[in-house]
Amino acid sequence: MSCSAPADQPVDRPVDGAADRSAVPASAVRRRPWRTAALLLGVLAVLPASALTACDGGVRGTPGGFGVRDPYFPKLGNGGYDVRHYGLTLAYEPGGHRLTGTAVITARATQDLSAFDLDLKGLTVEKVTVDGEAARWNRAGQELTVRPRDEVSAGGTFRTTVRYSGTPVTVTDPDGTEEGWLRTGDGALALGEPTGSMAWFPGNHHPSDKASYEVSVTVPEGLTAVSNGELRSERTAHGRTTFVWRTAEPMASYLATLAVGRFEVSRSVTDDGLPVCTAVDPALAADSRAVLAELPEIVAWEEKTFGPYPFSSTGAIVDRLDGLGYALETQNRPVFPGAPDTGTLVHELAHQWYGDSVTPESWRDMWLNEGFATYAEWLWDEDHGGDPAQRTFDALYDGSWFDADADGGGEQGAEAMWAFPPAKPPGAAQLSDSPVYLRGAMVLHKIRQKVGDEAFLGILRGWAAAHRHGNADTAGFTAYVEKRAPGEDFSGIWRDWLYGDGKPDRP
Ligand code: ARG
Ligand code: ZN
Repeated sequence: MSCSAPADQPVDRPVDGAADRSAVPASAVRRRPWRTAALLLGVLAVLPASALTACDGGVRGTPGGFGVRDPYFPKLGNGGYDVRHYGLTLAYEPGGHRLTGTAVITARATQDLSAFDLDLKGLTVEKVTVDGEAARWNRAGQELTVRPRDEVSAGGTFRTTVRYSGTPVTVTDPDGTEEGWLRTGDGALALGEPTGSMAWFPGNHHPSDKASYEVSVTVPEGLTAVSNGELRSERTAHGRTTFVWRTAEPMASYLATLAVGRFEVSRSVTDDGLPVCTAVDPALAADSRAVLAELPEIVAWEEKTFGPYPFSSTGAIVDRLDGLGYALETQNRPVFPGAPDTGTLVHELAHQWYGDSVTPESWRDMWLNEGFATYAEWLWDEDHGGDPAQRTFDALYDGSWFDADADGGGEQGAEAMWAFPPAKPPGAAQLSDSPVYLRGAMVLHKIRQKVGDEAFLGILRGWAAAHRHGNADTAGFTAYVEKRAPGEDFSGIWRDWLYGDGKPDRP
């Protein structure tokens, strides 16, 4: 070994991407995330994966490299391995805003690796081991590059342990909204779409790499820590309580959450025996009670419409985050930054099928999440005495929907809908804009018009079943629809509604 840097010492100084962290204040409560003002696109400086190939010390293989070629976030995720399981042992002190963590990441190598990257933003890395042996590592921006002492061979499973601590950062998205680690009045909330998860644990933070999780969180006694999956244990000793949450079904890291604070936790089961766990900030309990009481009925209606619920529990987290402006479909248990309304609850729960179980292959496929979850709202309305989806479609097409909706943005909103096609957002700042949500839902309605109600519901259900717990992309979806309705010609829908610029002509 010819390297001079001793093991478990950083080879380089951390250089955190300050350019990614512009402080843009979130506006007042926005129910619809696409209304976010389009704000500065972070400088996507392409950093070399490693300045450290000179130091391979005879270890066979090549570096896995940073990024997995996401069209919008080239540095997101990492090459050369596939994570199977994250074991996170965390402690958080809300007083000092201090997080202490150990991440044990079990992964399978997809090539002989001399080095590999993890994504981590902020925080201080104290020690890294690979299969129990101290490893060298360095940091550059969001890349934590690890060089194991011994080779990691293709096909083999290896375990990386990262010990870290610090004050986690809030990340500002390219569209100006906030995610990552968010402070609340009584604790904190971790949200990860699209890139915030790297603010609280190191990992392969691209939606294409899903894994199971066990998250153990220790907080001061009297506070509660809520995450995804099911609570396995809760123990109090010496003034601290440790909550252990386990997520057995594969989860993309942007869907991982952690809420620390005072919560009213309630547990029940649906008529089908599905465990329900809701955690509500006491200040929002009264305003949330009625809508959360609808949750079992919404899940039952969605099962009837979309097929079997994909996970082993459901629920919701309602926390106080005035000004956050969006809810998030965190797995099992979506997060609401205030008391939800029925439509938003329907939307986030529909994501459990479309987004959480069937996850986009890359961020370009975001409309497969948002178009479907939006269409779920239309279908819910149609089935519950509201407007039929056809009327919603027509009102969007002629623009009248935007006058009627206080939040819709009037004429400007009506125009913004046609700014780009749902399957081709122009940049990372537009991923949550209205064409992805509303025009995405209109694509689904066009398919329904062509094939009829029964075949359309068969497509919705079949798509969820075909890619259950997996990943899928837009080309896979169009091919799937064509296979389900072989006699029909969808080419005009794909050309004009899915991929085409401008407002399509009315047929
Ligand atoms: N996926 C969330 C939803 O259910 C919205 C997330 C918005 N995030 C953002 N960075 N703009 O619609
Ligand atoms: Zn959504």
